Amino acid sequence: MSAEPATRVLTAGAQASEDGARVLAAGGLVAFPTETVYGLGADATNGQAIARLYAAKGRPQFNPLIAHVLDLAAAKQLAVFNAAAQRLAEKFWPGPLTLVLPKAPDCPVADLATAGLDSIALRVPAHSVARELLVKFGKPIVAPSANRSGHVSPTTAAHVLADLRGRIDLIIDGGATPVGLESTIVSCVGAPALLRPGALPRETVEAMLGVSLAEAAPRDKPQAPGMLASHYAPRAKLRLNASGVQAGETLLGFGATPDAALNLSPRGDLIEAAANLFSHLRALDAKGAKVIAVMPIPREGLGEAINDRLERAAAPRS
Ligand code: TXA
Ligand code: MG
Repeated sequence: MSAEPATRVLTAGAQASEDGARVLAAGGLVAFPTETVYGLGADATNGQAIARLYAAKGRPQFNPLIAHVLDLAAAKQLAVFNAAAQRLAEKFWPGPLTLVLPKAPDCPVADLATAGLDSIALRVPAHSVARELLVKFGKPIVAPSANRSGHVSPTTAAHVLADLRGRIDLIIDGGATPVGLESTIVSCVGAPALLRPGALPRETVEAMLGVSLAEAAPRDKPQAPGMLASHYAPRAKLRLNASGVQAGETLLGFGATPDAALNLSPRGDLIEAAANLFSHLRALDAKGAKVIAVMPIPREGLGEAINDRLERAAAPRS
């Protein structure tokens, strides 16, 4: 039996991107920051590397991955764009929007990465470290959030290390991710539909398209595999929309309150709350909280995605 591979951590920079590209080319796994959360990258065209990625995450095999590319031209090698997809890509890429599109006939991405679907999820990240790695590697990189399956998404290199030490080859440390919430996923297979609320508010997408986004399938019948209700789960139980704290609970605040153990945003700012969401849940877990009572978060703008993540975290575990 061989020993666990050591996980190297390198500070972001030219050397780290070069090493990262070399590790990817050899079929290895590299965690790197994007503007949303840290991703766990593998060569999108290498089925064995992707199998290692699923194993490292402990991810159910039916959960397809997002392929990250440098620009719209690179995306068009992988998928078929209709008019709506083209407009969304031109307006919001690079940025925290993932488009689900019909796979191009000669798409080189390994079938395992798309879990056998004939659609593919694509994203052009804006973060300079992610972009530098894509430039150096020169091919699409599939990257789910760099956490163990069922854990919350990582927003720092330390979070990645805590979940994946010894299971991946390299972590490129580019500091805390600026947004802290995953990308918004819009399907353009048929009428545009919101598959996952995220860092780009639904209203912004709808205003640009001039139509409402259709709703994703109900939670118990996921259209996007991986929209499992309990996907984003801290160890502690969650009680949502708490107006105050009860005996045995730890309060996660939003807005002005004297009682909170931690506060997502004392000034009630949804962007600040999104950036703090996963790290605060982790911190309360680390403090041994049994039940986290979460104050109400308004459902407008980024609040829709924040509430979605909290509801998944609060769902009964199977
Ligand atoms: O912000 C993000 O999107 C981050 C960073 C690293 O880019 N990535 C991320 O990946 O959140 P992941 O794997 O944790 O979530 C991807 C979601 C999953 O729920 C998956 O089921 C869905 O995208 N997905 C991927 N391909 C799909 C497809 N062809 N059809 C429908 N859903 C798909
Ligand atoms: Mg994830």
